[in-house]
Amino acid sequence: MENIYPDNSVILAPLSGFTDIPFRTSARRFGCRYAFTEMIDAGSLVFGTAKTIKFLDRTEDEDWLGVQLVGSDPDILSRAVNILNNHEFSVIDFNMGCPAPKVAKKGEGAMLALRPDDALRVFEAISKNSKYPVSAKIRILDEQDPGPTLEFVRRLANAGARAVTIHGRIRKSFYSGPVFHEIIAEIRGAMNIQIVANGGVMDLKSYDELREKTGCSCVMVARGAMGNPWIFEEIEKRRCVIPSPIELTDEMRKHVLHMADYYGEALAMKIARKIVLDYLKGRGYQRSLKCGVSHMNSINDFETLLSEVRQSHPVI
Ligand SMILES: Cc1cc2nc3c(=O)[nH]c(=O)nc-3n(C[C@H](O)[C@H](O)[C@H](O)COP(=O)(O)O)c2cc1C
Repeated sequence: MENIYPDNSVILAPLSGFTDIPFRTSARRFGCRYAFTEMIDAGSLVFGTAKTIKFLDRTEDEDWLGVQLVGSDPDILSRAVNILNNHEFSVIDFNMGCPAPKVAKKGEGAMLALRPDDALRVFEAISKNSKYPVSAKIRILDEQDPGPTLEFVRRLANAGARAVTIHGRIRKSFYSGPVFHEIIAEIRGAMNIQIVANGGVMDLKSYDELREKTGCSCVMVARGAMGNPWIFEEIEKRRCVIPSPIELTDEMRKHVLHMADYYGEALAMKIARKIVLDYLKGRGYQRSLKCGVSHMNSINDFETLLSEVRQSHPVI
């Protein structure tokens, strides 16, 4: 069976509240080729909420884009897939890794993976109806024993999964703590379908470590790309890429003005606050500068903030 991703692919993860068109466009400026929409609630898609429909937007320049669904009802998922079949996507991914309370309380995401029989029924409904290749994104089910995760991946493969992305942390760890590389490595060694490793890639060093320890050639980058689209260039060129203050503020401007275009100024400035904070994070900027971000209500406010960033002297 043909692989979804070429060897050595670096994939931008689905990130709820982040991987919209402006975010992906910023990542693509630095070499990101494989990217996903935010996770899309299948029910909201079927009932056609305007916000959800907007998640399906893609630009003409995006030659590879995956879409990710979350849900737990096979019938709703089939209907959601039928809607997606009328758009253009490279793959449909099914989320069985999200631990967020609003998803968990509906028995979806990582909670669904704890009921493998139900999860498989849902996945089969997606796989049977999709005109695109299908994949799944899961977490490891046990930190000590690869058995349960391997069994789950094997069943997903039998149900038509062409690739499975494995986040090497259990549900209860959310996003912190060690990534259990050896569990991913066991599964990678035992399966013929593509296994994509995920967890803890923040720079070239951690990318190399994840690949080496899991044996996976394809890797998914998530938080490492938030406020740092340069990570794609760093991995591709195999050298540390730290933007100068001018490069940083130029990219922030491109990203946030694109958001203003896409959402309208008022809404964009609200959503952009977390984006701006991510760009400033870990770069040694003073706290007072970051506090100013919460008062950013207009493009003028944003431009003022950018001048302050340029004039300030980060301490690393
Ligand atoms: C803000 C945020 C939003 C996320 N949204 C999604 C999502 O929509 N779908 C998904 O499968 N995973 C989502 N994740 C999980 C990431 O895709 C990834 O699996 C996780 O962050 C581990 O990778 P990392 O250690 O490289 O960040 C999200 C994570 C964060 C921090």
